[in-house]
Amino acid sequence: MGERLVSGECLVWRCPAGPLPAPLHALLDDAEQARARNLGHDAARTRFVTGRVMARLLAARYADTPPRQVVFTSTCRHCTGPHGRLEVHTGAGVLHLSVSHSAERILVAIARDTVCGVDIERVALRGDRIPVSALSPVERRVLADLPQPRRLAAFIRYWARKEAILKATGDGLVLSPADLTVSAPDASARLLSWENRPPPHVSVHLSDLAVGDDYRAALATLGRPLSIVERDVDPLAEASHL
Ligand SMILES: CC(C)(COP(=O)(O)OP(=O)(O)OC[C@H]1O[C@@H](n2cnc3c(N)ncnc32)[C@H](O)[C@@H]1OP(=O)(O)O)[C@@H](O)C(=O)NCCC(=O)NCCS
Repeated sequence: MGERLVSGECLVWRCPAGPLPAPLHALLDDAEQARARNLGHDAARTRFVTGRVMARLLAARYADTPPRQVVFTSTCRHCTGPHGRLEVHTGAGVLHLSVSHSAERILVAIARDTVCGVDIERVALRGDRIPVSALSPVERRVLADLPQPRRLAAFIRYWARKEAILKATGDGLVLSPADLTVSAPDASARLLSWENRPPPHVSVHLSDLAVGDDYRAALATLGRPLSIVERDVDPLAEASHL
């Protein structure tokens, strides 16, 4: 029997996005391998492969099946294409997974029978200015009132919280993150309001995750709060018993 994932618990694996040895790539299914080949950028390919290998190792543990035989479904709620939230259907319920990559870090979250969304973002500017159009009017005012040196990290905190929610609902950036208002960056994580939210209006539970000074990360769950267990994981060590 595989290990039990306690109902009411969400396990989050944190790992580095370094390249994995070729034998671990063989854990991916044909569609994942084709997607990896089509990613032109080496760093993006490494992040994708590592994220999926880790998701397979984590799901395999609780689905009681070898990692190569884990079957992910990932139906997009907007177009039903295979690029939405990850699920694994088992005889003992549904395992919900969420993967996030940023720069050198990867997070994979898993929960049983409760939908989750995770997001990690490096504290770095992508263009030449903070894209405040992703913030609601309330959030923009909070950001503008902060001393300039604190604004980037505060924006990234906002962004990670919003994207975690939009990943949990399965909408992603099809919906505008500016429609969500989350609590101020220094306050405990909470969804305060959501304009134009499409049904179903299931309750959203939000938590910040501990990922060091250079990153910000958040986890959202739908319907109920979960007790979160965060763990640093070395992909090679995890795969060593295979
Ligand atoms: C979800 C989304 C915000 C993630 O952005 P990102 O920069 O790739 O960020 P992350 O690294 O944090 O997340 C990647 C993971 O998000 C997950 N993901 C993708 N779409 C998702 C969705 N709609 N809901 C939840 N999770 C989703 C995938 O599992 C992906 O992991 P993978 O690369 O192993 O497949 C972005 O991909 C998105 O908005 N997708 C939907 C938008 C869209 O245009 N969909 C088509 C409409 S029909």
